[in-house]
Amino acid sequence: MPYAKIIGSGGYLPPRVVSNDELAAELATRQIETSDAWITERTGIRQRHIADPGVTSSQLAVKAAQHALADAGVSAEELDLIIVATSTPDFIFPSTACLVQAELGNKGAAAFDVQAVCSGFVYALTTADSFIRSGRAKHALVIGAEVFSSILDWNDRGTCVLFGDGAGAVVLKASEEPGILEAELNADGSLANILHVAGNVVDGKVTGDPFLRMDGQAVFKQAVTALAASAQSVCDKAGVSLEEIDWMVPHQANVRIINFLGRKLKLSDDKVVITVDQHANTSAASVPLAFDAARRDGRIKQGDLVLMQGVGGGFTWGSVLARM
Ligand code: UT7
Repeated sequence: MPYAKIIGSGGYLPPRVVSNDELAAELATRQIETSDAWITERTGIRQRHIADPGVTSSQLAVKAAQHALADAGVSAEELDLIIVATSTPDFIFPSTACLVQAELGNKGAAAFDVQAVCSGFVYALTTADSFIRSGRAKHALVIGAEVFSSILDWNDRGTCVLFGDGAGAVVLKASEEPGILEAELNADGSLANILHVAGNVVDGKVTGDPFLRMDGQAVFKQAVTALAASAQSVCDKAGVSLEEIDWMVPHQANVRIINFLGRKLKLSDDKVVITVDQHANTSAASVPLAFDAARRDGRIKQGDLVLMQGVGGGFTWGSVLARM
């Protein structure tokens, strides 16, 4: 049975950077009080990239995909599977993956979206791994892409300071050499209400609430408990110990969650990839963007054992353990 090996990665962030100070000043014009000190202390976030009006997830996804394909040395025509993880698709349908496929110039590959919010990339990667392991695909493109700024209530300081826009991608290839060793996905739909966008379209009109709402403390508690258990479980299944992990690439929501998790798993800080300070929470894009950043600056190397973890709305969570 072939492994799915990650042979390339890429990321793309919209050029507009908004610092905490700039955001605080903007919110102050509407009598909403926040500060760089509060945001940095509670979350570790210092800035976020925000897409210009009209920029879509598929546009960000295409740019990240092009970087990943170039890095992998794979042409778009060679792809037989394209999965996009997003909660901010361009349209209700067609899927963002089909839009990306057309833009990249591929015809014929299976293309579909995965909706698992901030766990989306880990869900999509696991799905692609299953396609490759079963022989149903040989070259897969997996993307996490979001324009989360479009579903934020910019009058809610409890959420609008936390998120950013971006896209990250990896290319997987069927290989006899070890690649993805193990993966585990979980969900608990009974916790849907702690993080949701409870709007939909009825008779051509948006009904309900189209903005992100979150019980931050409930999400925080669930995240650390679920991710710690998931990390242990995926390592047990793969027959490796937590000490053997070279790099942890967790979902980038809050540096306090990441530090708590690192301590719980007894992973030293220098094994944990952090980009939340620069990108804020980019939902499905956060893990592939962090992974790509650490590959490009030479931290993640050939042969390294990497644990990627996602957690988010649904409630969903999951882990992928990969040998580079
Ligand atoms: O991708 C997965 C999704 N998200 C997450 O993983 C997020 C998980 N949760 C968190 O990261 C944290 O719970 C938050 C960062 C969202 C909040 O941090 P916290 O330490 O749990 O703060 P809190 O919600 O308990 O709020 C503390 C205070 C409140 O004021 P009072 O009631 O104590 O007077 C808030 O109103 O901070 C206030 N506050 C703010 N103050 C300044 C909330 N947001 C802000 C803000 N600026 N932006």
